[in-house]
Amino acid sequence: MKDFAARYGPWAIVAGASEGLGAAFAHAIARRGVNVVLLARRAGALEDVASEVKKLGVEARTVACDLADASFVSAMKDATSDVEVGLGVYNAAYSFIAPLLERPIEDALRVVDVNVRGPLRFVHALAPAMVERGRGGVVLVSSLAGFQGNPRLAAYAASKAFNVVLGESLWAELRPRGVDVLVTCPGATRTPNYLKTTPKEAPGALDAAEVASRTRDALRSGPTFVPGAVNKLARFFLGRVLTRGGAVGVMESNTKDLHD
Ligand SMILES: NC(=O)c1ccc[n+]([C@@H]2O[C@H](COP(=O)([O-])OP(=O)(O)OC[C@H]3O[C@@H](n4cnc5c(N)ncnc54)[C@H](OP(=O)(O)O)[C@@H]3O)[C@@H](O)[C@H]2O)c1
Repeated sequence: MKDFAARYGPWAIVAGASEGLGAAFAHAIARRGVNVVLLARRAGALEDVASEVKKLGVEARTVACDLADASFVSAMKDATSDVEVGLGVYNAAYSFIAPLLERPIEDALRVVDVNVRGPLRFVHALAPAMVERGRGGVVLVSSLAGFQGNPRLAAYAASKAFNVVLGESLWAELRPRGVDVLVTCPGATRTPNYLKTTPKEAPGALDAAEVASRTRDALRSGPTFVPGAVNKLARFFLGRVLTRGGAVGVMESNTKDLHD
């Protein structure tokens, strides 16, 4: 616990922390004695998470902001100007479930704003101070969907692939400078958003708390991490056994019943 806080404390920022996996990250980090700053749009939901996290004996601050808007960076910096941030988790995502051409281009561009431009801005704002101190950590939340194409989730899957490659690259750039980078690639995770979109849980589904704590504990084992044995096996078959086209076919069939 002391090691974690010394390396990644005294403060962490979790972007997309008002529910689901982001709230679970806040708890997992607080359990290691690190204070948290919580970012998301819904101020009330953020306050609820902050109250729960404070019961674990750490401080918590909230910043209500839209991660699709560049102004979140100055709001985040203002909220942390008096503290050292040693860990950043970019967890928020936007997705829609439909063939790309059936939705207005604005929907796909929103995926890019939240899932691509957001993490770029986040890392670019947070990591320089970590590099200067020679310690810290960054977690990007991708998905098993980021390893191959996925019909009806085209823009989302592509944005998650972006995070895999961004994180792998940063892992190599920042590790020699003392900053750990990890891209976590969960499969089905029981969050309000997932449970709303699926009629039936996928095999190997994990609780958000498990995904968050396993990811936290893997921070030094980058560049990528797949939580859960079933998901690791799925990743192996999709990436090493099947052809690229075969993997796309499996994802198509696995996600055919998901709906907005
Ligand atoms: N659940 C799964 O099965 C699963 C599987 C693989 C990967 N993942 C990944 O895990 C992450 C979390 O997923 P999730 O299921 O917990 O739910 P999610 O709906 O993707 O994200 C929820 C969190 O992000 C915040 N958020 C979303 N858009 C935002 C924006 N524009 N500005 C600020 N905050 C925003 C939401 O808060 P507000 O609504 O308050 O803004 C909420 O706190 C995502 O990156 C997702 O792609 C999830």
